[in-house]
Amino acid sequence: MAGQLLRRPLLGTHPARGGPVGSDGEPTAPPIGVSLRPLGPLTDGVVTLRPFTPADATAVTEACQDPEIPHWTLAVPSPYTETHARAWIGLHGAAFAEAREANLAVTAADGGDLVGSISLIRLNWDLGTGRIGYWVAAPSRRRGYASRALLLVSDWAFGTLGLLTLELLTVVGNVASEGVATATDYLTSGRIDQIVPPGGPPPVPVRRWLRSVGSDPG
Ligand SMILES: CC(C)(COP(=O)(O)OP(=O)(O)OC[C@H]1O[C@@H](n2cnc3c(N)ncnc32)[C@H](O)[C@@H]1OP(=O)(O)O)[C@@H](O)C(=O)NCCC(=O)NCCS
Repeated sequence: MAGQLLRRPLLGTHPARGGPVGSDGEPTAPPIGVSLRPLGPLTDGVVTLRPFTPADATAVTEACQDPEIPHWTLAVPSPYTETHARAWIGLHGAAFAEAREANLAVTAADGGDLVGSISLIRLNWDLGTGRIGYWVAAPSRRRGYASRALLLVSDWAFGTLGLLTLELLTVVGNVASEGVATATDYLTSGRIDQIVPPGGPPPVPVRRWLRSVGSDPG
């Protein structure tokens, strides 16, 4: 989620263990030898994921003018300016280095245009958990980019990073994101939780979607 690092992340609970997912306690370290910065681009031949660069700030700013992005992600500031984009991208290097977050540009493998953003956040290396957030620029929607990006990040998180459980939060009513979750084999219990967004009250109703290592899309 663009702007995620500019505000306090959402809190979550790991239902299977009853413990915090990426709680605000002491940071935990990844297994030795694991790098949160992908060693090369992650691609399926249609979508390529790579770290953002300062040159992406203009495209991120343009995409985030769409009110759907701040509305549904809860994390992207509105109004959104290029200063936000530059500041957000400027924080990514430290987040990679400290194994806190991986914010990746979603690009078209053919041509390299930036079409969206996907972030692995709220990592808890002890529990093997993390949360994924994403957006796709309005002109590039309904082409499978979000689903492909989510599958790539999920496979990388399970296969390379060694995580065990990943979660998504969708605000109730976000039919598009529910479609992405369903298409990528994330499961929800149907329970609705109330969370306080990073910007403060009132609470917002969300569904929690989980996928565990080994549960490959059918
Ligand atoms: C949610 C979002 C990322 C989806 O991106 P996308 O690249 O268009 O998604 P996909 O093309 O992978 O869609 C996968 C499936 O989800 C469902 N879906 C996607 N958008 C939909 C919509 N607007 N209405 C209904 N279903 C939708 C469809 O089943 C779709 O498959 P299909 O196109 O073959 O029918 C994009 O709409 C977006 O950025 N929205 C604003 C920000 C946001 O909601 N972020 C997620 C926060 S949890």
